[in-house]
Amino acid sequence: MAAGHTVVAVERSPTLARAARTDNPPVTVVRGDAAALPFPDGSAGVVVACMVLQDVDDLDHTSNEIARVLRPGGSLCLAIVHPFASAQDPTSFHTGQPSPITAPYLVERRYEDRAVRDGLAMTFVSDHRPLSRYVGALASAGLAITAMREFGIRPIPWLLVCRALKLSHQQRDATSH
Ligand SMILES: C[S@@+](CC[C@H](N)C(=O)[O-])C[C@H]1O[C@@H](n2cnc3c(N)ncnc32)[C@H](O)[C@@H]1O
Repeated sequence: MAAGHTVVAVERSPTLARAARTDNPPVTVVRGDAAALPFPDGSAGVVVACMVLQDVDDLDHTSNEIARVLRPGGSLCLAIVHPFASAQDPTSFHTGQPSPITAPYLVERRYEDRAVRDGLAMTFVSDHRPLSRYVGALASAGLAITAMREFGIRPIPWLLVCRALKLSHQQRDATSH
């Protein structure tokens, strides 16, 4: 916004959309589903998906929609809960103790992260998906990961950040063999 770009957010929750619209500075928000983005093909230079892809119900349609609205050469910047972290037992997340992995890493599953901050109890409902599931969904949509960083000071990192480029049709053809 300050750099002169047009920024539009998409949010499914009416409460959170209202919060963003009334923030300072206010954000332009469209109510909608990331799996059916209300934007024309090739209309965006950059898509930012910050801590969202682990929460969407339909990762494949969401990835396809991101690729559809990006112009060729456009970038997706994404941050997700690191799949190594979401593989851990969620009941141990806020105990300060090491979290065991009690279910197979490769099996997708829904989990609830219950946190309390400033006396406010919050429940975050997300999906654990192995790393290959994200890479596969992006690749199928024509998005090529060009950078990846992992963050966290505990034995298991908690944050995964990636940049992916939308490939042109020629680039997709050349890399699909
Ligand atoms: C963990 S929050 C992250 C919010 C913000 N990006 C941030 O980093 O603080 C995940 C957000 O994704 C939204 N969300 C989940 N599924 C969605 C979907 N299918 N379409 C649009 N928004 C969705 C949730 O309502 C929530 O606001």
